Amino acid sequence: MLKISNRSLIPPFIVMDVMRAANERAASGSDVLHLEVGQPSSPAPKKVIETAQFVLDDDKLGYTDALGISLLREKISGYYRDTYGVNPDPKRIVITSGSSGGLLLSFLSSFDVGDCVGMATPGYPAYKNMLKSLGVKVVEVPVDSKSHFQLKRKVLDKLSENLDGLIISSPSNPTGSMISSSDMRDLVDWCDRRGTRLISDEIYHGIVYGEQASTALSYGTDVIIINSFSKYFSMTGWRLGWMVIPESMIRSIECLAQNLYISPPSLSQMAAVAVFDCMDELNENVARYRINRDILLEKLPNAGLERFAPVDGAFYIYANVSHLTNDSSEFCKRMLSEIGVAMTPGIDFDGINGKSYVRLCFAGATQDINQAAARLQKWLI
Ligand SMILES: Cc1ncc(COP(=O)(O)O)c(C=O)c1O
Repeated sequence: MLKISNRSLIPPFIVMDVMRAANERAASGSDVLHLEVGQPSSPAPKKVIETAQFVLDDDKLGYTDALGISLLREKISGYYRDTYGVNPDPKRIVITSGSSGGLLLSFLSSFDVGDCVGMATPGYPAYKNMLKSLGVKVVEVPVDSKSHFQLKRKVLDKLSENLDGLIISSPSNPTGSMISSSDMRDLVDWCDRRGTRLISDEIYHGIVYGEQASTALSYGTDVIIINSFSKYFSMTGWRLGWMVIPESMIRSIECLAQNLYISPPSLSQMAAVAVFDCMDELNENVARYRINRDILLEKLPNAGLERFAPVDGAFYIYANVSHLTNDSSEFCKRMLSEIGVAMTPGIDFDGINGKSYVRLCFAGATQDINQAAARLQKWLI
């Protein structure tokens, strides 16, 4: 048999496997409540769709500049000014194919084989899996309720490894917990002092239920910011994201982008220009997430689920189910087959303690969230 590279032998993204099982069940005629995949059930804003239709009729969809079209980069720069009061030069903004594309570019441009990168566990699994396939050593730093499920300077001080990079995510997937602005400043400072490249994944900014999320960009210029049109902007399938990068990295990232995929999708870029005029519609989505979140926080305890990570932002609840199972994967399979509710087992996000957790996504319709809570209560009590 011909060889398959060792670098491709990475674990699956389990949530995608769960989604396939849920879709197969739906295709066979059984109903499914989808609380597994982290995507808004609402479509892209109307104006984005109208703009895409207009652009399609005009049919001028060639390659664009590898770093993205200027108009969109300028709009994003303006968004930083209006939202956070910082003014990144549009030249430092790179349009990517989803934030997944941005993560890959940031890892390729920051790290070499054998480098060492720290991240919180539980955390987004693709960080670890992508880095492993690039030959980068991953240091998983456990976080829990004592650290607000986020990395803290004090914990990082105790690490024996010398980190070349640190990835943070606030609000986090899977926990929804956020890094306070003072902790964010501390983390940027900690990385600056050690020559550690900080990559801040800010994909869930805009979806918050208390304090506004703070951007690492407010505290340093050597940080790499990762963001996306997939979540707050409700454009998941358009596969568009962005990075804000240090001036010194512009050319190397441009060369990587040119060689890896030439340019991000033209249609999505042109349509996304309109999304910054759709804030009312986007904030209505966030209002729905808040209603769904409050329903679950009120009703899950009636089903015996009471221990959650703090749901400060994003659209996830990371619930402890250790009193019900020590195998969250089997638990989720049984839940799907017996009551048609799809959730993601915690082992996708934490190889050790994740067997005692499940992640629920509440970005769906409120009616589905109410039904899921009722089915769970009946099933578990
Ligand atoms: C924390 C985090 N980062 C990055 C991504 C990748 O998203 P996309 O490639 O759609 O921008 C996701 C998707 O769920 C995520 O949760």
